[in-house]
Amino acid sequence: MPQDRTALNSIALNRRDLVAAAAALALGSVLPGQAFAQKKIVLGFSQVGAESEWRTANTESIKAAAKDAGIELKFSDAQQKQENQIKAIRAFIAQKVDVIAFSPVVESGWDNVLREAKAAKIPVVLTDRAVNSKDTSLYVTFMGSDFVEEGRKAGRWLVDKMKDQKGEVRIVELQGTVGSAPAIDRKKGFEEIIKADPKFKIVRSQTGDFTRAKGKEVMEAFLKAEGKGINVLYAHNDDMAIGAIQAIEEAGLKPAKDITIISIDAVKGAFEAMIAGKLNVSVECSPLLGPQLMTAVKDIVAGKTIPKRIETVESIFPMETAAAEFPKRKY
Ligand code: AHR
Repeated sequence: MPQDRTALNSIALNRRDLVAAAAALALGSVLPGQAFAQKKIVLGFSQVGAESEWRTANTESIKAAAKDAGIELKFSDAQQKQENQIKAIRAFIAQKVDVIAFSPVVESGWDNVLREAKAAKIPVVLTDRAVNSKDTSLYVTFMGSDFVEEGRKAGRWLVDKMKDQKGEVRIVELQGTVGSAPAIDRKKGFEEIIKADPKFKIVRSQTGDFTRAKGKEVMEAFLKAEGKGINVLYAHNDDMAIGAIQAIEEAGLKPAKDITIISIDAVKGAFEAMIAGKLNVSVECSPLLGPQLMTAVKDIVAGKTIPKRIETVESIFPMETAAAEFPKRKY
C-alpha cells in the first residue's frame, strides 16, 4: 500500500478515535485509557449478489469472520448490478465507515466512486474480483484468486485428456457475467492453452451470467444449434455447468460421457455431480475470503502496510478424486 494512504488513513482514524474518546470521557461512561480499546472497527461490504453456490459461501465466510473478529459489518447485496454497488459505496462513505470492501460485479467504471472514497480518506479493499482502474492508489489491496490461471488449469486438463484424439474437438463455452473479471480472465487463460493445438475449436460461446437457470437455457440453445456435434462444455462456474447438465440429460445425452464437462469453483454441488458421474472436473476457486479480509481490515486500521495483491492458493479436482475429497470440502 502506498505510504501516503497509510498516513492518511491513520490520521483519519486517529481523529475519529479522539472525538469518540473525548465524548465517552465527557459522559463519564468509561475510565481514562479505556476509550481507545472500545471503538469497534466498522467495515462496509458491497457483495455482488447471490447468483451462485460460490457466492453464498463467500457471503457466509465474510459474515462469520466479521463476527469472530469483532468487526461491525455493514453488508449490502447489489443483486448483480453495478449501479447498486456504487450506491452502496456512496452510502458507506456518507456513514464514515472505517474501511470499504467490495467484490466488483464488472471490471470497469469504478474510478469516480473510488476517488470519492479516497477523498473521504476511507481505504478500499477489493475482494474476489479486480477492477481495471489505471490508478492503483484508489484501493489498498486486491485479495482473491488468479482467474487467468484457473482458465489455464481447465485448458491444461482438457489438452491432456484429449491428447490421443485425432479429429476436431468441438467446444461450447458458458461464460460468466459479461464484463466481469472471472469471465474475461477464465476465457483468456483457457484460450491461451488450447490455441497451441488447432484441433480444439470453440464453436459457441455465450454468457450464462454465472447462474444455473441461464446455464441451462443457453446450453439448450447450444444443443439445438449443434445437435450431437458438441464434444466439450467449458463452463466458467459450477452453477452454470449444473444447469447445463440438466439440459444435456433432457436432450437424451449423457453428461461427462457424450460431452466432457469442465467447470470452475469446486463447490459441493460440483462434487455431487462428479460423484454421480455427470461432471468430469472442477477447478477450485475458494470463496473463503472472510478471515483474510478481516485480518487485512485490522492491519489497515492499525496503519500497517499490507501487500497490494493477496492471492488465494487453489487446486483442481477431476471426478476420480471427488468421493475421497468430498468429506473434506468446506463449501
Ligand atoms: O467471482 C467469482 C465467481 O463469481 C465464481 O466463480 C462464481 O461462481 C461467482 O458467481
